[in-house]
Amino acid sequence: TSALPSGYTIRELQKTDKAEVLSVLAVLTTVGDITESAWDERFEYISKHDDTYTILCIVDDAGKVCATGSLIVERKFIRNCGLVGHIEDIAVAKEQQGKKLGLRMINALDYIAEKAGCYKSILDCSESNQGFYEKCGFKFAGIEMAHYY
Ligand code: ACO
Repeated sequence: TSALPSGYTIRELQKTDKAEVLSVLAVLTTVGDITESAWDERFEYISKHDDTYTILCIVDDAGKVCATGSLIVERKFIRNCGLVGHIEDIAVAKEQQGKKLGLRMINALDYIAEKAGCYKSILDCSESNQGFYEKCGFKFAGIEMAHYY
């Protein structure tokens, strides 16, 4: 896969990323007021299930989180007990957009999904992001339905 722009590195989410990663995620949707203990509990759960959850961060040369993205590996019965990658919560900080960080984030999550044995990765997005995911190698594959509670 191609390189990140110079000065940026990609790594797994760390416990100390709380404030920075939550502020990056705010470009995507409502984050809410997450307490230290709620963060710690969720972080521990995700860490303990690292064969299912991967959360990556792209950081700049000062170590500041500029982008994040998640991969969840689903274990199925169909397709011979196949695995499907679900790409979720892709967010690039407003001032960092347009530098290929989103593309590199998708490339990295795709690589991890393929290496884990997934036969495909899927994601939901708005029409306004369809062009971005096409540039990342994804193809339109139907409509998303949701039932909010
Ligand atoms: N529509 C069409 N093309 C796009 C779009 C778009 N919305 N965004 C980027 N592109 C193109 C770029 O022009 C570039 O094309 P090029 O290679 O021809 O120059 C290519 O896609 C790669 O773009 P990046 O620079 O990697 O894009 P960026 O780093 O800005 O990340 C992202 C794109 C993730 C959509 C970012 O703008 C963002 O965080 N937006 C707000 C949050 C959001 O919508 N996240 C995705 C939700 S869907 C989900 O999470 C599964």
